[in-house]
Amino acid sequence: MRVFIIGISGAVGGLLTRDLTGRGDVVSGLVRRDEQRAELATRDVEVRVGDIGVLTAESLAAMLGGVDAVVYTAGSNGGRRDVTDAVDGEGVVTALEATRLAGVRRFALVSVLPEAWRERDLGDDEEHYFAVKKLTDVAVSLSDLDWLILRPSMLVDRGGTGRVALGPAQPHDEIPREDVAATLAELLHEPRIRRQILELNAGETPIASAVRGNLR
Ligand SMILES: NC(=O)c1ccc[n+]([C@@H]2O[C@H](COP(=O)([O-])OP(=O)(O)OC[C@H]3O[C@@H](n4cnc5c(N)ncnc54)[C@H](OP(=O)(O)O)[C@@H]3O)[C@@H](O)[C@H]2O)c1
Repeated sequence: MRVFIIGISGAVGGLLTRDLTGRGDVVSGLVRRDEQRAELATRDVEVRVGDIGVLTAESLAAMLGGVDAVVYTAGSNGGRRDVTDAVDGEGVVTALEATRLAGVRRFALVSVLPEAWRERDLGDDEEHYFAVKKLTDVAVSLSDLDWLILRPSMLVDRGGTGRVALGPAQPHDEIPREDVAATLAELLHEPRIRRQILELNAGETPIASAVRGNLR
């Protein structure tokens, strides 16, 4: 399978690249800086340079030739509202349109649990971030592509366990990034799981079983 990752230089993007290439998939993606392109090239990963906040759908579509799936794991992680709007909002819509223009069917988005941190006073910018993420999920879910939205709870960097809780509704807890990447890789290899929103936490079920458990 050929997978194009927007956000490939990020933590989840890097782990997903490792997992997919380990399965024999061919991974490419989008980075913002030429140093990142050069570093990934040393690992035989060929990427294109561009800013998702600037690219048009047509110019991004031109990078997607021969691709089987597009993964969007870029994000602002909160912060300035204009950046959130560009990367977590409009950028996803651009990528969705580019995927359609390129004739690629599969589009997977790493999103966020909308009710994350309800118990905290987050401040206006963080609230804006969660609102944009939710509205972006709505836009993706209205697409006629074979979309998939994965909503991990809080990302942590401790090692993955290979065991998760995955389903349409999960409480907000936490999940190692390694397990997010491994779950995404497994989901990409299960084309029968499409047009679903799945929430993800650390858990007890081996990832392959957790993914199969969401077949319907
Ligand atoms: N933090 C959490 O607890 C949490 C919880 C649930 C879901 N999430 C979601 O999970 C996603 C992945 O998390 P992560 O830890 O992998 O994040 P990360 O390490 O911060 O990676 C973010 C990626 O987005 C890229 N990016 C940002 N702006 C861009 C732009 N304008 N054009 C192109 N690429 C751009 C970054 O590129 P550069 O390398 O150039 O910066 C980087 O590759 C997040 O984006 C967020 O939506 C996060």
